[in-house]
Amino acid sequence: MDWYKDKRVVITGGSSGIGKATAVLLAQWGAHCCIIGRDKQRLDGALREIRSKAQNKASAQKIIAVSGDVSDRKQLNTAAPAIVRDLGGIDILINCAGITYPAYIDKIPDAVWDSMINVDYMGTVNSVKAFLPYLIKQKYGHIANVSSVAGYMGVFGYAAYAAAKFAVVGFSECLRQDLLPYNISVSVIYPPDTDTPQWHEENRIKPPETKALSGNIKVMRPEQVAEALLKGIAGRKFTIVPGGMNKFTWFMNRHLPGVVWKIVSGDLHKYWRKHPVNAP
Ligand SMILES: NC(=O)c1ccc[n+]([C@@H]2O[C@H](COP(=O)([O-])OP(=O)(O)OC[C@H]3O[C@@H](n4cnc5c(N)ncnc54)[C@H](OP(=O)(O)O)[C@@H]3O)[C@@H](O)[C@H]2O)c1
Repeated sequence: MDWYKDKRVVITGGSSGIGKATAVLLAQWGAHCCIIGRDKQRLDGALREIRSKAQNKASAQKIIAVSGDVSDRKQLNTAAPAIVRDLGGIDILINCAGITYPAYIDKIPDAVWDSMINVDYMGTVNSVKAFLPYLIKQKYGHIANVSSVAGYMGVFGYAAYAAAKFAVVGFSECLRQDLLPYNISVSVIYPPDTDTPQWHEENRIKPPETKALSGNIKVMRPEQVAEALLKGIAGRKFTIVPGGMNKFTWFMNRHLPGVVWKIVSGDLHKYWRKHPVNAP
């Protein structure tokens, strides 16, 4: 997409999964980008891969990586000025860093409740606050926040995660209005199950009820989600819902929530009838 050529983009969580796929596409389309993540080795590997896909292999296209924890606002506030300087400015901020931990509600450790809020929600807030002064000063830009299906509807096993992802949505809706005078647009994306390292990890620990609910829903590839995200940003769309089935679920949940509840609770009861050993 030509629209991205020479755009300067910061992506938290750009070293893996959806964030990395987004950075790869941006690199192919000629954007300058900075990826942020905690694990240095993972960042270095991703940086090599993203650079190898860059439209302009010469140093004119800036592709950099910065190690940082989004839940640590001091780290982000310290890193932001150097990132903006090294990229030559910032046009777009994509907040993709996130973690999850599906479990029965009474089995979710206290530390997990805290970390979902600290990383998935406050990590988004911290990142926005660190880069916002630059966008406000120049009076243009775009901020995209990554939520989840669990950010528009509750899903069995995801109480801690969904609360943080719903918070991302509320924050983004306010942000959109607050930033209207500054010509800064906002997007929220709601990915469905996507084939990333995080998804594989959560599949290991998901309660069987959560697996039963996702049933035959088609898992998306991170590249598909990244493309939907970047098309949405270029079109200044606020709500980005990748995937046909996801769009249908989003629509039903918004307009016919009673029907969705009947289907979901019916599927759970069906599961417990088939597997009485797991029934509460
Ligand atoms: N995959 C799905 O099915 C799915 C569905 C809906 C929504 N999402 C959301 O999409 C986003 C990306 O998920 P993914 O599946 O692509 O996961 P992933 O492959 O595990 O990638 C997560 C990225 O976030 C970074 N990260 C995690 N915690 C961080 C922290 N505290 N500070 C800075 N970076 C951090 C990771 O790097 P380090 O660990 O090295 O820091 C990594 O780069 C997340 O917000 C997730 O909740 C995913």
